Amino acid sequence: MQPLINFAGKRIVITGAYSGIGAALVELLRQAGADQIVVLDLKEPEAGVDEFIETDMGNPMSIDAAIAQINADGKPPVDLLFNNAGVAATLPADTVMRVNTLGLKRLTERLFPTMNSGGAIVNTASVAGNGWPENLQQITALLEIDGWDEGVSWVAGNAEVVGDGYFFSKQCVQVYTMRLAKKANQQGLRINSVCPSPVDTPLLPAFRQTLSDETIDWAIEAGAGRVATPEDQARALLFLGSELASYINGVNLIVDGGFGAAIQMGQVARPG
Ligand SMILES: NC(=O)c1ccc[n+]([C@@H]2O[C@H](COP(=O)([O-])OP(=O)(O)OC[C@H]3O[C@@H](n4cnc5c(N)ncnc54)[C@H](O)[C@@H]3O)[C@@H](O)[C@H]2O)c1
Repeated sequence: MQPLINFAGKRIVITGAYSGIGAALVELLRQAGADQIVVLDLKEPEAGVDEFIETDMGNPMSIDAAIAQINADGKPPVDLLFNNAGVAATLPADTVMRVNTLGLKRLTERLFPTMNSGGAIVNTASVAGNGWPENLQQITALLEIDGWDEGVSWVAGNAEVVGDGYFFSKQCVQVYTMRLAKKANQQGLRINSVCPSPVDTPLLPAFRQTLSDETIDWAIEAGAGRVATPEDQARALLFLGSELASYINGVNLIVDGGFGAAIQMGQVARPG
């Protein structure tokens, strides 16, 4: 009998797999047979991958150099792209927007045309992006900008809506996921995102710093009563990248242990 999920022979690109959710994803993909994992990160994963391309996802030249390496002569097309790299608002808003939104968009758009039909793109967004309807007009304006420098200028000129960059950057990822779904479908691809609540990764202390311990602990207690592990999130990413999700496209999958449902049903009080 064939296993339900098998990534053998699939060329898989993952951004941000040195630590946290991305590192857990590499581990799970290996267990599911993956034998062609290409990682783009500032730091090389210790577990070892099939190809590591040192890349700064906030720098367009670095991203373009990585794309040239991925698509170099003789290399097979990409089947799966996991856009997972991300930074918190302990860094300047400009950096957050470059890495979390502009870099993700640039890599996706430039890999998209050569990806194998039947493949998928899976973004790591966040529940921090759930407020996108409030800013849809501005998000659309930014996502419709083609050039990198123009995008960076837009961010600098719209500080009021961008804020510290984190919430807005993840709102952009959720909207981008939905906007690209139709085009993806036409090319035989799918695009979805996973939207985690707090996850126990090296990034969590940064969120505690920017959002307060009270807010993070509330999100954990009001949800599953335990913080999500990187594996909890990696399983959802793996699912959306697999054939099991063959008819799922343009979906932002909330993976929050029930936190959002409890809020919407009025079952938990906000802190303070
Ligand atoms: N940890 C959480 O509570 C949480 C909650 C919601 C969403 N997320 C999202 O999950 C994703 C993964 O984060 P994580 O929690 O595993 O944290 P992490 O810090 O462990 O992982 C982030 C990865 O991105 C890489 N990275 C950072 N800056 C980069 C850059 N400029 N270029 C290339 N790679 C870069 C890091 O080296 C690391 O491998 C992020 O997109 C984050 O926004 C995390």
